[in-house]
Formats: sequence, C-alpha cells, structure tokens
Amino acid sequence: MKNVNALLGMLLLSLSATIYADPIVIKFSHVVAASTPKGKASEFFAKRAAELTKDKVKVEVYPNSALYKDKEEMEALQIGAVQMLAPSLAKFGPLGVKEFEVFDFPFIFDDTADLHKVTQGPIGASLLAKLEPRKIKGLAFWDNGFKSFSANTVIKTPADLKGKKMRIQSSKVLEEEIRSLGGLPQVIAFGEVYQSLSTGVVDGTENPISNFYSQKMHEVQKHLTLTNHGYLGYAVIVNKSFWEALPADVRGQLEQAMKEATIYANKIAQDENDSALEGVKKSGKTTVYAPTKEERMAFKKALAPVHGKMADRVGSDLLQSIYKETGYDPSKM
Ligand code: LMR
Repeated sequence: MKNVNALLGMLLLSLSATIYADPIVIKFSHVVAASTPKGKASEFFAKRAAELTKDKVKVEVYPNSALYKDKEEMEALQIGAVQMLAPSLAKFGPLGVKEFEVFDFPFIFDDTADLHKVTQGPIGASLLAKLEPRKIKGLAFWDNGFKSFSANTVIKTPADLKGKKMRIQSSKVLEEEIRSLGGLPQVIAFGEVYQSLSTGVVDGTENPISNFYSQKMHEVQKHLTLTNHGYLGYAVIVNKSFWEALPADVRGQLEQAMKEATIYANKIAQDENDSALEGVKKSGKTTVYAPTKEERMAFKKALAPVHGKMADRVGSDLLQSIYKETGYDPSKM
C-alpha cells in the first residue's frame, strides 16, 4: 500500500509538472516512418497545436519506434511517460479492449466511405468511450488504408499462403485470419518486421502499402498482391488524467487542432498509399500483382468463416451494427 501511494504521489507530481510547465510538453510516440499518413498527421497536429495555443503547448513527435515499440508504448501512456499515441486498432486487445479488433475482420469494409460511417459516427464514439476505464481517452480515428499480402513466392489464391509464417499485429482476429488460410501467424512488433522478413523468421506479412514501402519491406519481399482484404487505421489516444488536468482553454485549442489533423490525416491517407505503391513498382524489387475480381472473391470466401468464429470476441451486437452500416452480408458468402 505504501508503495502504491508513493507511486501515485510520484505520478501526480510528474503530471502536474508536465501540465504547469511552460510550455506544456506532449510527447507523441509512434512506430511508423515520418513519411506515412500517421507520421504526417502527427506533425500536422504538432504544428496546429503550437499555433492555436500560441506556443503554450509543444508536441514532440517521436516516429519509428524511437521511444517505444508497440507493447511498451501502451504501458508508457498509462503511466504517463508519454502523453499521446496513435496505435493501430489491431493493438488494443492486450489492453483488454477487444472490441477494436472488429476493424480487423476481413473484407468488412468495401471502401473508405463504408469505413467512415463507422469511425466517424456513433459506433466510433462508443468504441472510444470504452477506453476510459483504462485511464485512456480516445480523441479520434485516423486512416491508413487497406492491407495487402506479401511473401517471397507468388500469391494468387488463398492456398498460396498455406504453411507460410506470416507476421501479424497483436490481434486474435488477425491470428484467425491467417489460420483460415492455412498460414502460421506470428505476432511481431512493427519495429522488428523488416529484420524478421530479411532473416526468414517469417515468410510474409500484410500491410497498407505506405507501411510496406516506408519500412523498405520491398527489399525483402519479392511479391506483393493487392488483396485489400482488411483495414488498418488508428485511434489517437491520450493519458486521461493528463488531458483532463489541462487548462480548459488549452484543451479546447488542442481539440480543435485534433479535429483539423483528423481531416488532414483522412484526406492524405489514400494518396500516400498510392504514391508508396508507385515507389514499390519503381524499385523493381517486388512484383506487384493486382488480382482479378474472381481471385479477390476467392480470398473473401476463404476468409468469411473468420466472421463467425470471432464474433464472440468483439460482441455480436457490435458486429451486426457494423454490418448494418456497411452492407457486409455473411449469409451471402
Ligand atoms: C503494424 O504493426 O503493422 C502497424 O500497426 C504499424 C502502424 O502503426 O501502422
């Protein structure tokens, strides 16, 4: 008990020191390159936060796992070592908020318009509210894009991933996705993916192209197939006590900066992925294959059972409410 009190005391002290410091510093840690949609949006937020608060707030952005890797960054946020993160929605399971893994269901969104009905509407807001008991406040959803499979062998049919060790993020739904294709899922921190691919710890992976290209995975993966089979995006989150202890006017200005950064993030994401794809093609190191409609449908069918198997993990009601928004019909698979 004594230790807990001492720890709480230290935390409160560091919290008030951060808040009343001049300027107030917000450490924003993330794991991707500065050139990606998330990297650019976090810099945009930092700039607008400085402008709107007239330099009362300084947002320090640490990209590329420079401060923390996937798991560590969640812990760092909870203890107040950093104030802001934007982890991928696939990484909230270990925190106990399994519902976020609904975004990992294969083919659940046909396109960004479908997705935004969920992330920018009441379902998104109710998902962010689930973070509060974890001492985390969810501020926004930022897009990256749709994922494609890569490996060192050709991928045209679901059977082409059979027996392959595939790197995934820490999501049970993604684990089931790879198993449904006969592959072997391996959870690996994002910062270690390039090395794991280059040393053969895993054979392949799935990514939006912006991540694939900016981490130079095209140097270590010979084939990329544009399956667009699932979504990868982010929840921007802050340490709740820190956020609530901010002076109200400053918090309002930061909310405005976040609103603008969210519009910016979701506007640039597709273009960033398109230009990353051009980069991969130009490199000549990875063969990019665009599957036919029929080939893509074969992946959709092969991955449909993931929905039934994992419904309980995210909650059937939540899943049904998303189907209602997007029109995904499991009975037609
Ligand atoms: C991944 O681990 O593949 C992604 O979550 C990285 C990211 O933040 O986009």
